[in-house]
Amino acid sequence: MAKIYESITELVGRTPLLELKNFEKRHNLKAKILVKLEYYNPNQSVKDRIALNMIEEAERSGELKKGDTIIELTSGNTGIGLAAIAAAKGYKFRVYIQDQVSQERYQVIHAFGGETVKLSEVPEIVESMEKYGPDFVECVKALERAVKDEENIWFADQTRNAANPNVHFQTTGPEIWQDTDGKVDIFVANVGTGGTLSGAGNYLKSQNPDIRVVGIQPTEDSFQSPERPDQEEITGVHPFENVEERFIPANLDRKVYDDWYEVHTNQAYAAAREAAKTDGILVGASAGAAIHVAAELARRPENEGKTIVAVLPDTGLRYLSTNLFNEEFLV
Ligand SMILES: Cc1ncc(COP(=O)(O)O)c(C=O)c1O
Repeated sequence: MAKIYESITELVGRTPLLELKNFEKRHNLKAKILVKLEYYNPNQSVKDRIALNMIEEAERSGELKKGDTIIELTSGNTGIGLAAIAAAKGYKFRVYIQDQVSQERYQVIHAFGGETVKLSEVPEIVESMEKYGPDFVECVKALERAVKDEENIWFADQTRNAANPNVHFQTTGPEIWQDTDGKVDIFVANVGTGGTLSGAGNYLKSQNPDIRVVGIQPTEDSFQSPERPDQEEITGVHPFENVEERFIPANLDRKVYDDWYEVHTNQAYAAAREAAKTDGILVGASAGAAIHVAAELARRPENEGKTIVAVLPDTGLRYLSTNLFNEEFLV
């Protein structure tokens, strides 16, 4: 039977789970590491899921109308997902993006006809950064102040929009449950907005409350600072433990995770580089962080025989201008 899709919106989700067999063997791991390859989405990241659901929920509720401009603040992947779906559905799109994200992210959004605005170009955001540092949640509030008088815009706001965790509850979680036949013991995901961890984590716990849900955050010294001007960060992820309450995104359900780990950019890079060599998957920095944490968990004697599922958010191709796969650093 012919199987022809009529829109990229039909291609979002249903991504594969791959066991990192060679990685497990190399480290003599006694637990299984299954990775969910979100780069199989039409625009190569987990954010295609939320881009589609946020837009379609807003269409259904009437908040988003024909002729509107969709706006968002993002480190890139949500922008790329929204830009593509906005193009396919005929909306204009404008993204407010961190200055230091990799150049290819800007290029991709422009290719879809989207407009990019650097955070340093928005006075309200610059002011917020001077006061609170590069905090995502505060930046979102500053953006709201900046655009409050503009008409015919719709702010997707992945940090607060319930369509974000909901789509992970409706798709990412059930896909993991079905593909493992319910045999999953530990679920590992990064936290940016908290959508993946909260949505998929809550779904998995609704099926089996004993599943351990583990969140990941970057270490403090993996952020750029005047002392570390060349430090590359794990794009898209943010601290959620040991930070002030107001920095925690509304979409992170703080009751969902049993445990959390910190990962340095170098550890994330090392794990992503290794998985490329052992199992032939080219993934981004936060995916490397997820592999690193999954491997740490797999090494623990109490996890022998268990199945660990880690979400790998995006493709390594989106990081070619960073040091992630820079020849100089590859060993
Ligand atoms: C590369 C990357 N990894 C991980 C995440 C975190 O996902 P979530 O927002 O669902 O917490 C993001 C989110 O921006 C991301 O862009």
